[in-house]
Amino acid sequence: MRKPVSIAPAQGPLAVFLPGLGAVATTLVAGVEAVRRGLAKPFGSLTQLATIRLGRRTDRRSPPIRELVPLAGLDDLRFGAWDVFPDDAYQSAVHAKVLDRALLDQLKEPLSAIRPMPAAFSPDHVRRLDGPNVKKARTKRELAELLREDIRGFMKANGCTRGVMVWCASTETYLRPSTVHAEPGALERAMADNDPAIAPSMLYAWAAIQEGIPFVNGAPNLTVDVPALQQLAVRRGVPIAGKDFKTGQTLMKTVLAPMLKARMLGLEGWFSTNILGNRDGEVLDDPGSFKTKEVSKLSVLEHILQPRMYPDLYGHFEHKVNISYYKPRGDNKEGWDAIDIVGWLGYPMQIKVNFQCRDSILAAPVALDLALFTDLAARAGMKGIQEWLSFYFKSPMVAEGLYPEHDLFIQLTKLKNTLRHLAGEELITHLGLDYPAG
Ligand SMILES: NC(=O)c1ccc[n+]([C@@H]2O[C@H](COP(=O)([O-])OP(=O)(O)OC[C@H]3O[C@@H](n4cnc5c(N)ncnc54)[C@H](O)[C@@H]3O)[C@@H](O)[C@H]2O)c1
Repeated sequence: MRKPVSIAPAQGPLAVFLPGLGAVATTLVAGVEAVRRGLAKPFGSLTQLATIRLGRRTDRRSPPIRELVPLAGLDDLRFGAWDVFPDDAYQSAVHAKVLDRALLDQLKEPLSAIRPMPAAFSPDHVRRLDGPNVKKARTKRELAELLREDIRGFMKANGCTRGVMVWCASTETYLRPSTVHAEPGALERAMADNDPAIAPSMLYAWAAIQEGIPFVNGAPNLTVDVPALQQLAVRRGVPIAGKDFKTGQTLMKTVLAPMLKARMLGLEGWFSTNILGNRDGEVLDDPGSFKTKEVSKLSVLEHILQPRMYPDLYGHFEHKVNISYYKPRGDNKEGWDAIDIVGWLGYPMQIKVNFQCRDSILAAPVALDLALFTDLAARAGMKGIQEWLSFYFKSPMVAEGLYPEHDLFIQLTKLKNTLRHLAGEELITHLGLDYPAG
């Protein structure tokens, strides 16, 4: 037995702050309320359903994850949100059309009680949106201070001593890291100077970190993926994680591509296209926001297939990703992948994938797990980038100089070994040589 990490208990209510009260956020909140009332099951959530093997296979110990490590219970979550639109969570969920009206009507009371606080918003960073529920201030720095006041006010009103923030707002336009993002002082000066390189998501992240609250980035925005906020998170002892929830097509890609590489099958091309008709799709129809998403989606294959190490197999493949806004589909995204692979002696083969998914149904349990795991990380004294949560992201954040791990099953092993480490259990190497033979 190893020494367990000291973890503060998950005592009292946990504030879950959601910038963006749209499809994903309302599906998360309504889902938690439905599960709490026994109306539905939390499929898709490791924290609620998954078990974890401990010790040797012959030990037959596989408790649920939530019994191995102390996680906040669903009854203890208190949801607070910001949005550009004033709709409460019930109205917004009805608008999003992800969940059936019959289920939403049973949850009308708790959902109607969640009213979004005015957003820190800028149309320069999300072009396809324009709503009235926005904060006004002279500078971005002042906006961020107002967000801090919101956080403190909400925590006090709800008797919370801990909180987490999960970005569920729209994808912002593409932003490159620059000198203003290099260190906390430069970032704060740029906030005071209203520098265009400071996106609203950075203000939320800055406010959360300053308040000692873990920040999770569910979108592909730059946000906390800059040295300034990473340094600040380490300095303040706060976990951060990102970016871009790994849900539909990229989830499939990070399962299929490792299979090709594991078997040394070559790749000539991978064409991915999607249609979706929700508000996220509308925002992604803007080329600036799409560019942010595209960069996030494209990086996956390069990292998994390592073309430099395997130039014959992966040196020249073509990778294309399209997202088309097509209103009739709403949140029910349909994705197609046409994959041209190459086998023994260079003979070509094809794989076709048609994934008819539901975007927010896949994303909500991911957001829930991230909220619970980053709260656990904070109580365990973990700070800065939480690479063990890469499992949940399309573009996992990593420490400087490391390449991200994209293979879903390596990510899962990493996540589970981190939990074993926290609980003082042996890490599992799958070596298996010390079992008695025969
Ligand atoms: N659903 C998925 O499978 C999935 C996967 C990966 C990433 N994401 C990302 O999650 C995010 C949310 O997706 P969604 O489908 O819920 O989108 P959505 O459009 O339904 O909701 C986003 C909400 O954010 C609000 N918003 C925009 N800017 C804001 C700001 N500065 N402050 C507060 N609110 C703001 C919008 O008004 C909108 O209500 C998107 O960025 C999306 O790209 C979703």
